[in-house]
Amino acid sequence: MPEQPDTVIEVDVGAPAHGGSCVARYEGRVVFVRHALPGERVRARLTEDRGGSYVRADAVEVLRASPDRVPPPCPHAGPGRCGGCDWQHASESAQRELKAAVVHEQFARLAGLDVSDLLTGVEALPGGPLGWRTRITYAVGPDGRPGLHRHRSQEIEGVEACPLGVAGVGDSPVLGRSWPGLTGVEVVRGVDATSVLAHRPGPGRQARGRRPPDRIEVLEGPARLQHRLHGREFTVAADGFWQVHPHATQAFAAALLAAVEPRSGETVLDLYCGAGALTAVLADAVGPTGQVVGVESSRQAASDAAANLDDLAWTGVRRARVDAASVAGLGIAPDIVVLDPPRAGAGREVMAAILALQPRVVGYVACDPAALARDVRAAADAGWRLAGLRAFDAFPMTHHVECVAHLVPSVSPGA
Ligand SMILES: C[S@@+](CC[C@H](N)C(=O)[O-])C[C@H]1O[C@@H](n2cnc3c(N)ncnc32)[C@H](O)[C@@H]1O
Repeated sequence: MPEQPDTVIEVDVGAPAHGGSCVARYEGRVVFVRHALPGERVRARLTEDRGGSYVRADAVEVLRASPDRVPPPCPHAGPGRCGGCDWQHASESAQRELKAAVVHEQFARLAGLDVSDLLTGVEALPGGPLGWRTRITYAVGPDGRPGLHRHRSQEIEGVEACPLGVAGVGDSPVLGRSWPGLTGVEVVRGVDATSVLAHRPGPGRQARGRRPPDRIEVLEGPARLQHRLHGREFTVAADGFWQVHPHATQAFAAALLAAVEPRSGETVLDLYCGAGALTAVLADAVGPTGQVVGVESSRQAASDAAANLDDLAWTGVRRARVDAASVAGLGIAPDIVVLDPPRAGAGREVMAAILALQPRVVGYVACDPAALARDVRAAADAGWRLAGLRAFDAFPMTHHVECVAHLVPSVSPGA
């Protein structure tokens, strides 16, 4: 029987769950409690009850506090407020421990793997927990005022600044203006310029009441921004993909190289290559006697990648959707396959197609540990072994965590 929304319950809080809450139990049901920490006893207000096996709640009063609890640095953090952050109330080191616990739990549950021997913790990136976001999409309400969405809500928390943003993004002048007719206003900073993008409602209708993808248009600043990695300049469409944390691409590239150990003259397949950041790093590693083929579905990103890699003659970019057929049809025999898919992961069929190419190693950059664990499970079912796993706090204050993993055949060929 669903509880009334706003009912307040008292619970002991347990382990963190994927998504930025902690697990508690109340009258035989699971409660996902936000704004709480493991080991705490809290009064929690129910925010969602669909009558199923679990409910959602916000901790509104802490009866027994965790030693990891800190005052949130942002005045907009807290129950019913901005939904952009999940762990403002946890110390920096506790945030990383929470994320490490989630990665362990996802691998145990979804891959059937104990990764204790591989994962030593979640690694911090330079710069601290605030002032790191180079891209923020502020939501715009019907009144035209910008802010940030509340958790699992279309309601907007008005903000005068977002402390997660870098200068010019977190305190962007767009926050002081009105944007009638827009659904969002996005601010993104490159090496030496900042662009503002308008989000307008897209055409058509989507299933289950979801909004169609926004139409995005550059309002101010360059349409293409410069980014830098290992001394190389990359030009990327302002609405195109580049890691949001300024130190992320470099950290992931270094972890990937350490994992897959490219050798001079090898052939590499770089799936979901975006504007070519990892492709360039891999190309440097295999050198001109090697070959790196990037695959990317976005027309703009593939064209940016081709231009960014123009001076590396042993690289090539194919514009294609990565799926089992396109991977099988590439006509190359890579020594190394690297993949950096969107949140949904690659999926069982794509993993099977990658492994059928019989590379010596597969390097995987993952923004969702659940999708990674499922894909690792698919690889394990096909006889592959998870040989390395690192995790990075590339999104401090939020529940997001990036992983870099690598897989090798369980039995080496010819053994
Ligand atoms: C996480 S980004 C990785 C980009 C790049 N590796 C980097 O580090 O900058 C994922 C990329 O996959 C692309 N993408 C999404 N789905 C795809 C698909 N099915 N096939 C090919 N590319 C896809 C997106 O356009 C995006 O550029």
